[in-house]
This record gives sequence, structure tokens and C-alpha cells, in this order.
Amino acid sequence: MSVRVEQTLDQLREEAARCTACELWRCATQTVFGEGPPDAHLMLVGEQPGDQEDKQGHPFVGPAGRVLDQALGLAEIDRSTVFATNAVKHFKYRMRGKRRIHQRPTVGELKACRRWLEAEVELISPDVTVALGATAAHSLLGRATPIGESRGRLLESPLFAAPVVVTVHPSSVLRQRDSEERRRALQELAADLRVAAAVVA
Ligand code: URA
Repeated sequence: MSVRVEQTLDQLREEAARCTACELWRCATQTVFGEGPPDAHLMLVGEQPGDQEDKQGHPFVGPAGRVLDQALGLAEIDRSTVFATNAVKHFKYRMRGKRRIHQRPTVGELKACRRWLEAEVELISPDVTVALGATAAHSLLGRATPIGESRGRLLESPLFAAPVVVTVHPSSVLRQRDSEERRRALQELAADLRVAAAVVA
């Protein structure tokens, strides 16, 4: 079963690498597809690859990924057991001098990329998905979802069988004003991840 899923995931990864369904492929280095064990029970969905992910070709390997790893550690979730992916598979940015500055994807770009997320969810068939931030929540729930009101609860998705836990994007922890606020935001992110982990346990 897992071997079949793994092969199909590899095929999808190859297909996605050639995706031109929206314009984002033009400026990105590569498609960053989801990664993790094919029999993962927990799926984490971010917004889109960042600068480092775009260069390295793997999800959550840059600064936001390091925050995510810390939160997973606090929630006692082993990252090697989860499938991590993004709602949009190409890095969207604008240039400021020599720096590539992240740009939020449009709803049209989200829709263009949804077929890959749908395929990942269908193949992995997780017990629960975690939407890391508003863009992922929009894609998993099919509607704009305010994080503050929805976070840390099991929500039903009209689009996917697995329940969704919405939480903040890990990069928001890095944007807090001081170390005390960052510590609190990290603890809150970990608490939301624990809600998802409880579904799997
Ligand atoms: N931010 C995301 O949403 N996903 C990544 O893979 C990296 C940063």
C-alpha cells in the first residue's frame, strides 16, 4: 500500500515539476512538492515555499521551518512522521534590491495549485491536517478563515474528509516584538499542534 502511494507521489511530484497552471513557475527556481512518509497520519500545510525552500527544493527548511521544528518538538511530534506540504508549490516574491521578498498568493493562484494539494491529501489520507496560516486555511476549508477565531479546534472541511486544525503560520512567531512574545507565540503554536496530535494518538 505504502509502496504504491510512494510511487504515485513520485509521479505527481514529477508532473507538478512541469506545472504551468499559473504564472508563478516563471520566476521560481523549482516546484516544491510535499515530503514525508506516505503513511503519515498528520499532514502540515503551509502557504508556499520561501526563499530557502525555493532554492533547496524542500518544504520548511528555512527560518519558518526552524520555528516549526521547535513547535513540533514542544508538542512532542516527531517531524519525520508527518507529511509537510504547502497550499502553493511555487515561491511568489518581488525583488527589493537583491532580496526576494515574499508575496502572498492570490485566490486564483491558490485555486490553480489546489489539484496538487487535493492529490496529496487523497493519497496520504491523513487522520488530520493542520493549516499553518490563513492561506493554508483558505485552501483546506475552501473559504477565508480568520485564524484568531478558529485556531486550535477541530474543524470540518467541506472539501476534505480529514478534520482541519487551523493555527498561525510559523513565520508569525518570528515577527513578534520581543523574546517573551516570541516564546508565548511558539507555545500557542505548539498547543494547536497538540490538538492535531491528539486525533492521531
Ligand atoms: N513557509 C511556508 O508556508 N512553507 C514553507 O515551506 C516555508 C515557509
